This record gives sequence, C-alpha cells and structure tokens, in this order.
Amino acid sequence: MDMDASLDPIAALRSEHEAVRAVLSNLEGYLNKINFVSSGGLRNNLINQLNEITSFMDKDLETHFKKEEEALFPVLGNYIGIETGPIHVMLIEHKHSRELSAEFKAKINNYPAAGDFKSIIEIGGSFGRLLSEHIEKEESILFNMADTQLSKEEKQGIMEKMRSVK
Ligand SMILES: [Fe+2]
Ligand SMILES: [Fe+2]
Repeated sequence: MDMDASLDPIAALRSEHEAVRAVLSNLEGYLNKINFVSSGGLRNNLINQLNEITSFMDKDLETHFKKEEEALFPVLGNYIGIETGPIHVMLIEHKHSRELSAEFKAKINNYPAAGDFKSIIEIGGSFGRLLSEHIEKEESILFNMADTQLSKEEKQGIMEKMRSVK
C-alpha cells in the first residue's frame, strides 16, 4: 500500500516538483512574451513579474534542494554512492541551477540600467530547461530507486529530517 505524501518523503518531493513545473510554465510564458511585446512599458511590466519567480527560486526551490541534499541523498547514498552516479549528477545540477538563478537575478536587476532583455530571456530559458530536465531525471531514476531500496524506517527518518529543513 502506498504511503500518503504527508508520511512518504518521496511522494512529498514529487508533489513539490508539481509546484516547480507550474512555476517553470509561467516562466516560459513570460519569457516568450518579453521577446514579442511591442512597447518598452509592457516589457518592463513583464520583467517586474519575473520577480515573483525569482523569489520562488530563492525560497521554495532552495528549500526543496536542501531537503534532497540533507535528508534524501545521504541515506540513498548508502546504497548507490554519492561521489559518482546519479546523486553526484543531481548535486552538480543543483549547483548549476543555483548559478543560473543568481545570474538571472543579476540580469533582472541590471535591466533598468542596461535594457538588456535578450540575456534575461537567454538565461531564464537555460535555467528553465536545466531544471525541467533535472526533475524529470529525479523522478524517472532517483526517486524510483528510493521507492524500492529504502525501508519504511529509513523513509520515516528522511521525512523527519525534511521537516526540519528550513
Ligand atoms: Fe534535485
Ligand atoms: Fe527535486
């Protein structure tokens, strides 16, 4: 029988991915519009809307990454290793995502002075693609391994640890 998302850490992480997908879909919509709007005023409004997305990256996404890094990966790493293999790849992608996120914010903050919306679109697009592929990989590879390898007790321990991540 499946544990529900309030008890099963893997189900909880999968449901956080749904929130990430929704934000990525908004991001893609804004970036497309920024490219095609006809006036600078409309473009400014759209770029302002990106701020709510950067606040999601700083808070919710960062907390999600920490739950994986501090709660799931160390325990799953006992079975599949951390220095090489899928967890290693996921850690590299978290790092890359944080770098792109910082670069994206810097470009948005520079926009009033520099007017460079092309690089906002470019970096926002790279971030969206990376993160979308990342969560697909976690769900199709890592989370399935966790579902089959981890004991009920280990899952409970991971869930408790995840609740303490802020
Ligand atoms: Fe991740
Ligand atoms: Fe994830």
